[in-house]
Amino acid sequence: MTEYKKEFPADFLWGGAVTATQTEGNWDVDGKGVTPPDLIAYEAGKVQNDLMSTAEINAAITDTVNYYPRRYAIDFYHTYPQDIALLKELGLNSFRTSINWARIFPNGDEEKPNEKGLAFYDKLIDELLKNGIEPIITISHFEMPINLSMKYKGWYSREVIDCYLKYCKVLFTHFKGRVKYWVPFDEMNLIHRESFSQFGMPSDLVENSLENKFIALHHKMLASSLAAKMAHDIDSANQIAAMVLSNFAYPASSKPEDVRAAQINDQLENYYLDVLVRGKYPGTVLRFIEEKGFNIGFQLEDKEIFEKGRADFISVSYYGNRTASEESIQYWPDPSVDNPHIKKNAWNWLEDPIGLRYTLNKLYDQYQLPIFLMELGTGLHDKVEDGKIHDEERVKFFAENLYQLKETIYDGVPIMGCLTWGPIDIVSNASAQMSKRYGFIYVDIDDHGNGSGMRLKKDSFYWLQETIKENGKNI
Ligand code: BG6
Repeated sequence: MTEYKKEFPADFLWGGAVTATQTEGNWDVDGKGVTPPDLIAYEAGKVQNDLMSTAEINAAITDTVNYYPRRYAIDFYHTYPQDIALLKELGLNSFRTSINWARIFPNGDEEKPNEKGLAFYDKLIDELLKNGIEPIITISHFEMPINLSMKYKGWYSREVIDCYLKYCKVLFTHFKGRVKYWVPFDEMNLIHRESFSQFGMPSDLVENSLENKFIALHHKMLASSLAAKMAHDIDSANQIAAMVLSNFAYPASSKPEDVRAAQINDQLENYYLDVLVRGKYPGTVLRFIEEKGFNIGFQLEDKEIFEKGRADFISVSYYGNRTASEESIQYWPDPSVDNPHIKKNAWNWLEDPIGLRYTLNKLYDQYQLPIFLMELGTGLHDKVEDGKIHDEERVKFFAENLYQLKETIYDGVPIMGCLTWGPIDIVSNASAQMSKRYGFIYVDIDDHGNGSGMRLKKDSFYWLQETIKENGKNI
């Protein structure tokens, strides 16, 4: 047998991805406004899927008793030069983070941007460029200025589209020539999350119903399409993503009813791509909306907005897929049935490398656009022993997944790059923990915010460094 030596394409983007709210901390510094993630306190064992009323929002803003991890995170606001140096040493040539909307427009509806917020991202983006790292910017990653939640009911309101576009215009003009890859929203298909965490709709102002989520999502998709058009008008070099969390489903059995259930799941979980890439709602979803009796407030002009504002590529985050049965699909968008063939991590999240190849092939078969894998990772507990972290499990996870990714590329699927999720340890989104770690770089902070903040390279750091150097020939 000949040795397997294929490598990744020469222009492959090897990167890492984080968000502003899970890394920067300094939640009230330099004029920044409050956002929903600043209001999630750490509670052991609690998974974030929150509903919040305006009274609860106000109480959290003034609470001085509980610990709110994202207010402090890993202090990336100050440590970014050292952290970027480490990412460069790791070999990354691209880095995705989000801009925090409330650093640029603290209330969301004021006329002028906050210059101090722009100044911070100027420094951050220039530092990346100086180090030969391509910046990839998410415009809104599960956050918005809290004033837009309280005053306008978040994405339930069509008026928020204008606030978002004003913010986009500032970003597209200010960072013109420095940022080319933009992700208007993270994971648009997370409709199964509660309406506050995904759409900024307070529970006393907007009922947490599927209809209201469809309305909010319609507004977000309009905002995304209008942003795509604006980005292209401002600079034709801009590349706009349509981003989803991979949520395809395997059928629970070969029973036609289960196979059909998986198909229904896939249609409902991915219609955002039909809208943002093909420029229209698919018939299956229009029928679903009609049969449910939802009124999503579709206006005449919306058709043209979707047609004119198309995304340039598909971006996907991958944490395994679903499994659907005839029975489970009736409860969509609730997550699906257990799949005994798929390994799970300590948080019950799936590890399914073959599913990665399945997902990327399926997306390409369907949409025929380049795909950027924008999140790949698994949360693990790490132990420091004599100043070292022997994280073989992380190495195994990446070796298996990157192998399948490489196979996908040789299947003929144009993969632009791979961003590992959380290349440096950050606060978990779902559980607000620091101890759910994804990084190749350890950060000495615990779930309660204690620790020196010191950075430490894990064994996986050296493994990935070598893999990038070899451009994947070693996997
Ligand atoms: C993705 C989100 O869905 O999952 C990230 O885009 C998130 O913000 C990531 O951090 C991993 O989830 P968690 O809950 O383990 O941090």
